[in-house]
Amino acid sequence: MRRFRRLRSNESIRSLVRETRVDKKDLIYPIFVAEGENIKKPVESMPNVYQYSLDRLDEILAEISESSIAGILIFGIPKHKDELASGAYDENGITQQAIRYIKVKYPSMLIIADVCLCEYTSHGHCGVVCGHKILNDETLPLLSRMAVSLAKAGADIIAPSDMMDGRVSAIRNALDENGFADTPILSYSAKFASAYYSPFRDAAESAPEFGDRKSYQMDYANGKEALREIEDDIEEGADMVMVKPALAYLDVVKVARERFDLPLVVYNVSGEYAMVKAAAEKGWIDEKKVVSENLIAMKRAGADIIITYHALDAAKWIDEFY
Ligand code: PBG
Ligand code: ZN
Repeated sequence: MRRFRRLRSNESIRSLVRETRVDKKDLIYPIFVAEGENIKKPVESMPNVYQYSLDRLDEILAEISESSIAGILIFGIPKHKDELASGAYDENGITQQAIRYIKVKYPSMLIIADVCLCEYTSHGHCGVVCGHKILNDETLPLLSRMAVSLAKAGADIIAPSDMMDGRVSAIRNALDENGFADTPILSYSAKFASAYYSPFRDAAESAPEFGDRKSYQMDYANGKEALREIEDDIEEGADMVMVKPALAYLDVVKVARERFDLPLVVYNVSGEYAMVKAAAEKGWIDEKKVVSENLIAMKRAGADIIITYHALDAAKWIDEFY
């Protein structure tokens, strides 16, 4: 008889033979910065997640800086929205201001800047709209301008999440031409049209006014197509690639890990967070244990880096977890 249980007999032995661990340095925490003053607005569908105005951003930055996690992913929420998302590439836009502020106060904090128009467009779509069509090529120059202005403000990594075709090469060229040849691109390469994003759309006030995002985000039934998307982004110059959401797509992560050797990122999205928090609040699951199991699952599937709203909690729990 093979006695597998020999290596499970106590925590010291289990820890010794543990195959997968999560490190604080694997974790990225998303933050939402709103234009205005004295704002710390709870996001209804995401317990313990808030929109902060610049003057109160320190409340969360201090905690992030003490947590030893890898860095932040920043989203701006402008007051003014229009058809062409002008706030997205305004030098004095909310995200640009926030990045400059963070870089002054916390020079060593790693800032990943999400690049997408949906928080800035009046219609809430990720691209330029004509009638009910989302235009691809017309969107690329706006994304490129946004990327350059975020890099100018001090973003360390540019992360396009819009899912227009050709945006990685458009953004790469724009960055290179404007003196940011050294700024890496983390592409949301395999981003699925997912119902798991709805709490985020409350947080970022970015729900589309008409239709849905299925003409640009991927059909969640398609795993092979996800690999083509990733491959194409790598050819276009992505330095890191992402699969999003995380938990329902770990099969894609696993195959992407085997096929590609770039840093692989997963986004443990708002709906995944909301489900855990809701069940935990009801006392139906143990939050710490479920979070630990979920994060390990993402790494076991092959992710190197995890973007998660649990990052600050997990950073506190990690030593007792593993
Ligand atoms: C914007 C964007 C979205 C998310 C990240 N960037 C929402 C969307 O595409 O509708 C989702 C993040 C989350 O659900 O936590 N393009
Ligand atoms: Zn978008």
